[in-house]
Amino acid sequence: MRTLAVVTVTTDHPIDGGEAPLGSDWADQVRELARQRDAVILAHNYQLPEIQEVAHHVGDSLGLSRVAAEAEASTIVFCGVHFMAETAKILSYDKTVLIPDARAGCSLAESINADQLRAWKAEHPGAVVVSYVNTTAEVKAETDICCTSSNAVEVVQSIPEGTAVLFCPDQFLGAHVQRETGRENMHIWLGECHVHAGINGADLKARVAEDPDAELFIHPECGCATSALYLVGAGVVPETRTRILSTSGMVAAAERTTAKKVLVATETGMLHQLTKANPLVLFEAVNRAAVCKYMKMITPAKLMRSLREGVDVVDVPVDIADRARQSVERMIAIGTPSPR
Ligand code: 13P
Ligand code: SF4
Repeated sequence: MRTLAVVTVTTDHPIDGGEAPLGSDWADQVRELARQRDAVILAHNYQLPEIQEVAHHVGDSLGLSRVAAEAEASTIVFCGVHFMAETAKILSYDKTVLIPDARAGCSLAESINADQLRAWKAEHPGAVVVSYVNTTAEVKAETDICCTSSNAVEVVQSIPEGTAVLFCPDQFLGAHVQRETGRENMHIWLGECHVHAGINGADLKARVAEDPDAELFIHPECGCATSALYLVGAGVVPETRTRILSTSGMVAAAERTTAKKVLVATETGMLHQLTKANPLVLFEAVNRAAVCKYMKMITPAKLMRSLREGVDVVDVPVDIADRARQSVERMIAIGTPSPR
């Protein structure tokens, strides 16, 4: 089963079409506006560097979900994509959740909807549904346990061996989990993220040939994750230098590495936190064109407007939020790395 990954953009945003250069006190203004609104600013590792720098917390989807769940501020401003802000709303239903541009979607989250998941479940009665957190609230409401790239293996291992698993929507993460767990009764939805699927085995092989001594950090959503393991098996890349890691796992590995150069197979926004974690290492993208246009919809001007005007508000119907919360809370209970 395969669906097209499409995010529909329906409205013009009031401040699209060019932004004034940032003043030197931009970050101070943002922090002051956040203080006045009693808001905490969360930013995903793929955000623009200036957004990452001004946020109160930067991290991966799982770490930021945990911060959202424990936030004391009455407003959460989520600098990331829409499903992440929805997850924050699900976990902190009494709080106001804002996203600087509500059109910041996710091609992976669009690759399965609740009707498709219900039909898949009907084909496999008794199976446990594990959904990657990159899904809409409606899909999470049909899910038994959510997971992220940093705890997907542990989540699947937590399900009794004799019970079938439906894993959605990312086929590359699913293949990675199946490889790690050796699980045969696992069915994988054929969804993908257009950015990570675009980092392919051919790109990786060419970059490894250019820099045979470099380490490799690979996000499990990448189309090249399988090629990396093949290259390891063929002896082209030493196993000790190839790591399949979530975005927070990459930061932890960057702090420890002794390599001079690391080739990074994920969205290029990641390079900012990696360089901060270890400025002595040269971090280079396997594919420099791996840019998520949805993540980059969150700009400094839109963050200012969001804080000034209290927009764009993220809402999830209460019945869907109640059902989705259970699957997200099970995810949070299994493996929780600390955001920064
Ligand atoms: P992480 O869960 O590793 O932060 O990844 C989120 C994401 O959107 C990957 O594209
Ligand atoms: Fe979604 Fe891919 Fe962008 Fe991550 S990089 S938010 S999976 S479209």
